[in-house]
This record gives sequence, structure tokens and C-alpha cells, in this order.
Amino acid sequence: MSTTTISAAASIIGAATPRIDGPLKTTGTADYSADFHFDHMIFAVPVCATVPSARITKLDASRAEGMPGVLLVLHHGNIGPLFRTVPGDDNATNSEVRAPFEDEIVRHWGQYVAVAIAESLEQATAAAAAVTVEYEAQPANLKTSLDDYSGKRKSVSKRGDPDAAFVSAPVKIDYTYITPVETHSPIEMHASVVTWEGDHVTLYETSQGVVNHRAVMAQVLGIPLENVRVITRFLGSGFGGKLFPWPHAAMAAVASRRLNRPVKLSLSRRMMFSNVGYRPRTEQRIKLGATKEGKLLALRHDYLNVTSQLDDFDEGCGEATPYLYSVANLEVTSAQPRRHVGAPMWMRGPGAVPGLYALEAGMNELAEALNMDPLQLRLLNDADKDESNKNIPFSSRHFRECLEIGAKKFGWEKRNAAIGSMRRDGKILGWGLAGASWVAMRLPCTASVEFCANGRLCVRCGTQDIGTGTYTIFAQVLHEKTGVALERIDVIIGDSGLPAGPMSGGSMVTGSVLNAIASGAEAAIKRLQQVATATAGSPYHEASLETISFSAGRLHRKDQAATDGTHFADILQLARLNGLSAEGKTIPSWEDPKAKDVSLHSYGAQFVEVEWEPDIARLRVSRVVSVIDAGRIINPKAAANQISGAVVMGVGMGLLEETIYDHRTGQPINGSMADYLVATCADSPEIDVTFLDYPDPAMGEYGARGVGEIGLAGIAPAITAAVYHATGVRVRELPVRIEHLLQSKIVEA
Ligand code: MOS
Repeated sequence: MSTTTISAAASIIGAATPRIDGPLKTTGTADYSADFHFDHMIFAVPVCATVPSARITKLDASRAEGMPGVLLVLHHGNIGPLFRTVPGDDNATNSEVRAPFEDEIVRHWGQYVAVAIAESLEQATAAAAAVTVEYEAQPANLKTSLDDYSGKRKSVSKRGDPDAAFVSAPVKIDYTYITPVETHSPIEMHASVVTWEGDHVTLYETSQGVVNHRAVMAQVLGIPLENVRVITRFLGSGFGGKLFPWPHAAMAAVASRRLNRPVKLSLSRRMMFSNVGYRPRTEQRIKLGATKEGKLLALRHDYLNVTSQLDDFDEGCGEATPYLYSVANLEVTSAQPRRHVGAPMWMRGPGAVPGLYALEAGMNELAEALNMDPLQLRLLNDADKDESNKNIPFSSRHFRECLEIGAKKFGWEKRNAAIGSMRRDGKILGWGLAGASWVAMRLPCTASVEFCANGRLCVRCGTQDIGTGTYTIFAQVLHEKTGVALERIDVIIGDSGLPAGPMSGGSMVTGSVLNAIASGAEAAIKRLQQVATATAGSPYHEASLETISFSAGRLHRKDQAATDGTHFADILQLARLNGLSAEGKTIPSWEDPKAKDVSLHSYGAQFVEVEWEPDIARLRVSRVVSVIDAGRIINPKAAANQISGAVVMGVGMGLLEETIYDHRTGQPINGSMADYLVATCADSPEIDVTFLDYPDPAMGEYGARGVGEIGLAGIAPAITAAVYHATGVRVRELPVRIEHLLQSKIVEA
């Protein structure tokens, strides 16, 4: 992989700093949730429904309860009160509406109907298997396709008269694009380890949002917020599947409270496919109308996504559609047909990623209908203001530059548009491109910065590192502000008791927390200076604050070198302080005058090359050029890692990932890592990542918008365009399968 960041960095901001948590992870000393062990710990194993839709008529746990080591079997009849979270409470967002075991209705295969708790994992597993459940079957809708939906559709965004403009447009396309269910498959599976001390509970969770997780658990368990603590020191990723709590956490908490013992509940990989969310199937109809010269006249984007029986989950496929291109007549509509499936959940780049697959695939097909270069079509329709929202300006948009630089790096001008016309080493090459976009926002948060008498500097924030480099960039900002060496900086995150920080979601931690850390550091320095001037015996006693400065970890007079100054630890000792801290806050973008009236988004361009060997029907993504405009890049090493990882995930989305359900039972039939295909090293192309690195003035001091999701946007439609170019087969339903490719009429030369 190669990385380019345009504009070189002089300071640690923008420097390719290795992960400060890397050694903990590579030596196995980082504790993930299931790594927490406590004396007298017991184990919980759920019992899952084997039908998609039914009423439980009898649940018999008597045999399980009599087995060796078995302590308890919890189910609807004995779990006691559990509660739903308050609808619309953004500080306590849950994954599923329904509380676990709330009623005796089964609404999807795999739904928890009981949980067995025993002295050992083996005993609990055996007990769970011994629980017998009788069901009275109820009608189940397990139809994969959503195309029979005839209910209401919500208008998400509208301007002009798209239908009239489409009818009269000289050139048009009208196609439906489908994305399948994809299952979050992080290395670290879900687990809850729960301990109680009196009426206080601590949950060791794999959570993308410890602060929200605490609020949800307080509401679900019906206990005061201050009695709940959630800890997530490290995450083996999550992709959105760990944003909000899932029912197993409450089940483990009740078991632990009831038995007064620490409880561990780890999901199996099979449960990961039925009980903790997935990216829902989408069916998206795209209508595009244009002049003969390629100017867009009409855009319709009507999408459906599947949801569960009780949850109203809108995938939001129209996220990027209203502002990406300039078009006077546009409408996006949305509806959510229900099936007997588990609750869907956000997955990396939710909404925009499947939405852009449809929109950008449509743009590529429109380019063909126009007999126009798809790059030119996009440049021609670039928007210079956000036409979806009162024509407000973009905070910082360099979409055009992404496309132009990408084309240059990729060698797009050498493209021969004729199908199957480009060859290398006996293989047919296919080239495709697509645009990318992702929303940016600054969430409110607080960080506390502490100078410690032991010479260490500490930052505390109730956020967490999903694996993207959050620990490292926090330390970079503190180093930049104080000059204290990275080895002497402690980043304390992953604990709901810390000052409230944001979820690791929406690519928003970087843009949100850095401002709070920076202002916390400035406030702590100021306080240290005040202490120094007020402390008898300090070299700065009674000095005026304007005459002293702070750099390289030392207080010094402005006319003095930092090395001749006094280390902060010595100041603290003179003042007999163990430490000194101050808080900094981030103002949310919607309250900041510089950010609230601008359109905040990241942009990108994806260029993909595939190699096609028609005689053996072998297709491989061989090369990807990804140009990303995500504001200022704080750590190009970690950031490029996010983009290249997302590109690999995009290869999976384009060619491999799909959760397939048995139409009779609703059981995922490929619910294991052997059968659910994700892209691996062997599938990974050569990846070239370029960051434009323009600071976004609406994002505060650092101008960073975050990079966790944008890299996945646009990869799948660029792949299907490249596949078409190589094979002549237009695939409008992901993933591209060998069955599609075998329709190719291209033969080996
Ligand atoms: Mo992301 S889908 O917001 O974890």
C-alpha cells in the first residue's frame, strides 16, 4: 500500500505516529471484554429460538436446572421486570425496542428465549441445550425480496418536479439496485462480563459507546444512572454492530444480580449472525434524466430497506443523494418493509454506502447512455453549494480535486471504453470509478487534562478506541499542546465514569474530541501557571502571567529557553500538589456559528481495476486508487489504515459478503466465518491512498472530519463498473457472483 498526504506536516499533527497501544495489542496484554476474569465467576449461555415466528406455549427448564453445576435458568417467567428505553432519548439509544424475554412471542430465528447459568461454560452450554421449548407457529414473512411492498413511502428530500423533468429528459436511465444483508464480523465477538457490588453494577462490554451504554443499562435494569459503570478498554472493532447495547447485556446483569456472582456471557459466532444486527437488504430504484450534453435534469432515488417486526430501522440510503450533484429536480423516498428477522443496525457508512452504490452505479450507467466518460459526467455535475438545504455553502468540498487527482494517479486517460478491450499479461482489465461522500459533525463532549506530580500527563474522556487509532491521536494532540513526550502521556478512555465523550460512530470521535482535549490542555497550562505564580519558593512566584510560557513540558519565562525552565512536576511538588487538572469542552457543530450554517461532509473518489480471466471465470480486484478529502489528517498512518481497510471491506461488499437465510426457518445458513465470505489478504488489491489534507474551518482548531467510513463509500459501484468494462455483464445486485460472470460473452483472445 502506498499513502500520499498532500502538504507535509512539520508538527506531530499530521505525522505518521505509530499506535501507542500497539505493544499492548501485539503482546496480548490488552484486555478485551471477554478477557476479564473474576473470582467465583460463572457463565451464561443463551437458548435461542429455532423458529421465526411463534408463541411459546411451554418452556421446560426442569431438566437443565437439575444438571451438575447449573445455578439458574432465566426466561420470560422468572426474569422479573426489565424496561424499554425512553423513545427519542438520544442519550440512551438502544438496539432493540423490546426488552429481553418481555413477552412469549418469537419474532425471529435465534431470538433469546432463555439463558442458562452454571459454574462452568461447558455446564451452561449443556444446560442451555437441555431447555425444551414448545411453540405454536404463527405466520412468518421471510421473503428476501422487498419488491411487493405497496405501503406508504416517506419523502426524505425533494426539490423541483423530478417526475416531469424525468419524462421530458432526452437521455435517461431507470434501474433498481440491490444490496444484500451483510453481517458485522469483527474479530472480537460480543461479550458481557458483569459484577455487582451491592446495588452498583459494572459491565465489561465491547461497546462503541460506553456513556450511552451506561444510560441504556440504567433504564433497562431500572436502576439509577450513577449505579452503573461500563468499561471498554479495547475493541476488536465493531463496524457499527457495537454502537448500542444488545439484549444479552441485560440478561447477564440480571443473572449476576440474582446469583450475586460475576457472570460472563460470550456470544458464539453463530449468534453474531442472528442477534446483534446486520446491514439490512436494500432495494433502490434510481431514475436519472440528463440533457444530451450530460447535465443532470432529474434524479429520483426510491429505496426500501428491510426491518424487523418491532424496530423502525431506516437505513438512510438517501444520505448523500441530495447534495452530491447539482440537479434542479430531485426526490428521495424511503420505506421499511417488515420481515421476521432480528433488528438491523448501522454498519460502516450506513445509508451513504449502500445509497452511493445505487446512485453511483446509476451515474455510470447514465454515462454509458450518454456515450460519455463517467469522470466527465461527474465533473460536469459537480455542485458548488448544498442544493438540498437552502443552498447553504459547503464548509470545505474538494470532490472535483479527488476525481481529478484520482484519475491522474490511476492513469484514467489511458482507458479504452470498449468492453473487454484492455488487456495485460493475458488478462482482461476492467476499469471503473465512483464518487464517495460521508457526513461530518462535531458532537458535544468533555475531556479532562491532568498534570501529575509523577511527571506524567493524562487525558480522560468517556469515549473509546474502536481500533482506529483514537488512543494515539489523543496523545498526539496533548504532545502538540504541551511538548510532553508521548511515552509520558496516558490516554484514559473506555470508562463511562469519565467526562462524557462521544460514541465511536459516524467517524466523529476525531472531529469531536480533539477540540475538547486542546482546550483542556490550554486550561490546565493556565492553571499550572497560576499555581506557579502563587506558590512561595517557585521561580515564578508573583511573576505576571504574561511573562511566563509553557513548552517542552516546562514553565519558563518568555525570554528564557524551555530547557532553563522548570518542569511541571517540580512546580506541583513546590505547591504540594499531587496533580492539577482542567476540563475542555467541544461545542457541537450545530451550535457553532462557524459550522451551523454550512454543509459538512467528506468526499472521495474511488478508481478500481479488475482482472478477468474468462477461460476460468476468475475475477480479481487488482488495483484501487482512493483519494480522500476528509479535512486535516491528524495521523496519516492510522488514517491510511482506515481507508485501505475500508477498501478491502469494499471488495467484500462488491464480490463476497451476503448473509443468506433459510426461507423456511429464517436461520442464517452461512452464519459462520467458514461460510460467510469476507475479503481476506488474498483478495486485497494493490491500494493507493491519497489525502488532500485541507483543514475544514467548520471543524475547529484541527479541521479534521474523521476517516472511519468514507473509504468504503464508492468502492462497490466502482467495482461493478469495472466488472462491466471487463466482462460486459452489468450486475445490479450485490455481490457480483460467478453466476453473473458466466453470462459474459467475452472470450479469451
Ligand atoms: Mo459506525 S456504522 O457509525 O460504527
